[in-house]
Amino acid sequence: MLQKALLILLGVSISKAIRLISRSRNGNQPVAIATSSEDDIILTRPATKYDVFLSFRGEDTRHNFASYLYKGLRNAGIHTFMDHELRKGESISPILLRTIEESEISVIIFSENYASSTWCLDELVHILECKRKFGRVVIPVFYNVDPSSIRKQNGYFGKGFDALKQRFKDNPEELQKWRNVLIQSTNLSGWDSHSTRPEFKLIEEIVKDILRKLNYASSSHLEGLIGIAGHVRNIQRLLIETRIVGIWGMGGAGKTTLAKAILQELKAQFDAFSFIENVKEQLKRISLDELQKNCLKELLKDEDISIYDIKSTFVKNRLQRKKILLILDDVDNSTVAVDLTRVLDWFGEGSRIIITSRDMQVLKNASATFSTYHVPDLDFEDAFHLFNLKAFKRDEPSKGYMELSKSVVKYCHGNPLALVVLGCFLYGRQKEEWESALEKLSQAPPKDIVDVLRLSFDGLDDKQQNMFLDLAFLIRQGVHISLNLLRQLYCSSMHIEISVLREKSLISFNDHNDFIEMHDLLREMGLEISSQQLLSGRKTHVRLWRHEDIYYFFHNDQAIEAIRCMSLDASKIESITLMASHFRRMRYLMENLQS
Ligand SMILES: *[C@@H]1O[C@H](CO)[C@@H](O)[C@H](O)[C@H]1NC(C)=O
Ligand SMILES: *[C@@H]1O[C@H](CO)[C@@H](O)[C@H](O)[C@H]1NC(C)=O
Ligand SMILES: *[C@@H]1O[C@H](CO)[C@@H](O)[C@H](O)[C@H]1NC(C)=O
Repeated sequence: MLQKALLILLGVSISKAIRLISRSRNGNQPVAIATSSEDDIILTRPATKYDVFLSFRGEDTRHNFASYLYKGLRNAGIHTFMDHELRKGESISPILLRTIEESEISVIIFSENYASSTWCLDELVHILECKRKFGRVVIPVFYNVDPSSIRKQNGYFGKGFDALKQRFKDNPEELQKWRNVLIQSTNLSGWDSHSTRPEFKLIEEIVKDILRKLNYASSSHLEGLIGIAGHVRNIQRLLIETRIVGIWGMGGAGKTTLAKAILQELKAQFDAFSFIENVKEQLKRISLDELQKNCLKELLKDEDISIYDIKSTFVKNRLQRKKILLILDDVDNSTVAVDLTRVLDWFGEGSRIIITSRDMQVLKNASATFSTYHVPDLDFEDAFHLFNLKAFKRDEPSKGYMELSKSVVKYCHGNPLALVVLGCFLYGRQKEEWESALEKLSQAPPKDIVDVLRLSFDGLDDKQQNMFLDLAFLIRQGVHISLNLLRQLYCSSMHIEISVLREKSLISFNDHNDFIEMHDLLREMGLEISSQQLLSGRKTHVRLWRHEDIYYFFHNDQAIEAIRCMSLDASKIESITLMASHFRRMRYLMENLQS
């Protein structure tokens, strides 16, 4: 008997699923799903998938320096690509070329035999091309080779290149191209294994350098967020004085964004860090001990830590030697906050904890000595500006829309999420539609942001609404929704639906475009809507997660065929009989995910 099974079932019709399977067989790559103006920028510069691309001569460094550097970068939370495959054949694969384009920084490890490989040299050509075309960053590491022998292609390094000269004597252009890129690379500021020693020190320095550079790159991405730099500075100031800082503000105020910005800004100054997202929701699925265990795993980079180790002296001692930054996002329970912040005593000197919460009392109760930072609502001017950027894709309203815009902005109460969602909703709509939206807003209870968000949901068609509700449900259950998974769950038209949801800012993608994210207020709204639909006795697309509902449905043999998604923790339900015949009756049910 499965004690604690989380079963998630999602309904897609059979024919669709079969089509999907055949589609995923032929291995289509994700299609770019975007039409918004933000993505026009991405078209000129490919979306960043990796922070770092490692270019190295496999024979020389695969099993030593390159692998240590890779580990060092990963440990610092830097998303790094290293080609672990042995290379066969002469030419470099298109996938690898694209990976280079999608990497913010390329690190080239020049070693003795680097120039004897056409593969490495072609990679180098492409890396420098991306530097020129997209402004990507390139960092050379001269590993036991002298930059001057690369420039002149002499010494041991030159011998490798001499061999190529023989092989390509009929292709002087190719040779010249390689020569040029070798010379160009020595001109870039890089790291020399002879001057930074020992090797672990070299790796540490490179990692720090890369963190600083990434930091710089990401803070320029955040510029669009109004006033964020100022908030980050204020919080940095608080962190000098106090070891625990709470970030307090209403849902949608941008607490998580701010906490992430702080992490970006500060992580280079710490030995280890952990960003625990959505504490509140994680604790609905896993125990506090488990959460702490995951956190320790990350801080100590030790996969083998078990729940029993949490209180061990050995673990404490290991933590004590590290300067740690711990960020706890969205905590809603004082007891939990106290438990999670108590670990600060185990951390090394200079460690800091940041907690975000909607509830001031939770922060107050968490620790006697801490400061809170209140994320203020946007003032009217900033709110108006942000709204216009979304509703008109420019700084000011279109002609004739000035008064309408001002009225709409007032209903958002300076809440950035509401401004963005409402702005995206009204983009490109006629005046009459604006007026009807205002009419609806004026009927909502004052200060209720969810009603503002709801307007955007109501504007979706059936298919989009269902997808939004599915996603809210799945994300709430902790399922990581990748494009691949989406393709398995929905038919090909999902690209349109997804881009609509994205344009309306109802969903977004994480930094590396791997997974779909949804703001917690929107997710809560989605669950609430599903729950209302259940009460209203709707007979399609039933989503079940509360055990009393599940019990009711199965016990009374109610509308089983309508079930679309279900999350069941068998340990929480006294008795329930799930039979194969039940599943056969669920007409909408196809995909069977185990989480
Ligand atoms: C190397 O840098 C110098 C000065 O920064 C510059 O004048 C020179 O043209 C560069 N050489 C190459 C090959 O890029
Ligand atoms: C807070 O967490 C504690 C311990 O996990 C739990 O016993 C308590 O019921 C929670 N309080 C609330 C209000 O959820
Ligand atoms: C904070 O602590 C007080 C007193 O210990 C308690 O009564 C209150 O419920 C706590 N607040 C929250 C939000 O847990």
